[in-house]
Amino acid sequence: MLIKENLQTKLADLEKTYVDFCLEQFGSWKDFALATRRIYKGEAVDEADVPASYLHEFRMLREVLKMEATGKFDWTNPVLKESFSHFVTSDYYKIWGATITEISLRISQISGVKTLVEIGAGKGNLTEIMITRLDKAGMTIPLIVTDVSPAVLENIGKLKNRFQHMPVETMPWDIKKQPPAELVQMIQHPCLLYERASIMYSNIASIENMAAMADIVVLGDMFNYTGELDAYDDIAKKIGGEPLFYSQIRPLMEKCFRDHFMFDLRAQEALGYPSTTILIGWR
Ligand SMILES: C[S@@+](CC[C@H](N)C(=O)[O-])C[C@H]1O[C@@H](n2cnc3c(N)ncnc32)[C@H](O)[C@@H]1O
Repeated sequence: MLIKENLQTKLADLEKTYVDFCLEQFGSWKDFALATRRIYKGEAVDEADVPASYLHEFRMLREVLKMEATGKFDWTNPVLKESFSHFVTSDYYKIWGATITEISLRISQISGVKTLVEIGAGKGNLTEIMITRLDKAGMTIPLIVTDVSPAVLENIGKLKNRFQHMPVETMPWDIKKQPPAELVQMIQHPCLLYERASIMYSNIASIENMAAMADIVVLGDMFNYTGELDAYDDIAKKIGGEPLFYSQIRPLMEKCFRDHFMFDLRAQEALGYPSTTILIGWR
């Protein structure tokens, strides 16, 4: 049985590395918030006034506003594409992915996890980190990779070809709905479900659908811990990013799981930053 204090001790080194990084990454969040408030009001902002760790996100949000002004969203817009691709190759995105997967693997070893499930896999960025780590550690836990869009699962097909010796399956799953019967049948318990940046594009209620199948969850998303919203949240909403309020998540976690905690709460507390980024829960 997982006990919070024991788990926190086992993850302490990871927590220190990740929180130290977050303190740098999000340290100037107030300057970033100010810059986004200004562009939201239509003011020009010099990029020199934007904290370096937020520059790509700032450029992306500014482009979203520009496109909104023209009344036309274009996902192939080169600035938007450039900012997105910078974001996914940024040091923060890398450490976020590495931490989510390492936490998942350590808990898998502690609890004898028999099935891993990834949701909202998209282009397979997080999946690749997971498969590479499983392979390196000589772990052969079956991994089922899911997304709402069957098309994006084709990317995972390429990964499967690269790692043919690994037990990896793909399956469509819209997490706004209960897991499909075919998926449930493939699960052996304990099952650990992990993700990054997909709940914010679906909804908080999907946690109940995850709990229908998973015994343990490691969720990497922008969770709004304090309830405070700022201009960057309003701009993110325009491209489908919904704030995930912990005040709404907490009762669901308490209903569906025995215990949970925010892995990086220390960074939130130190900075007064509204968000936390990794939630761990278990039965
Ligand atoms: C920003 S991408 C994240 C990709 C990947 N998790 C990563 O970290 O590299 C968001 C993903 O969430 C998926 N998504 C959005 N709504 C979903 C839903 N209702 N059910 C499952 N996946 C969903 C999208 O298809 C997309 O692939």
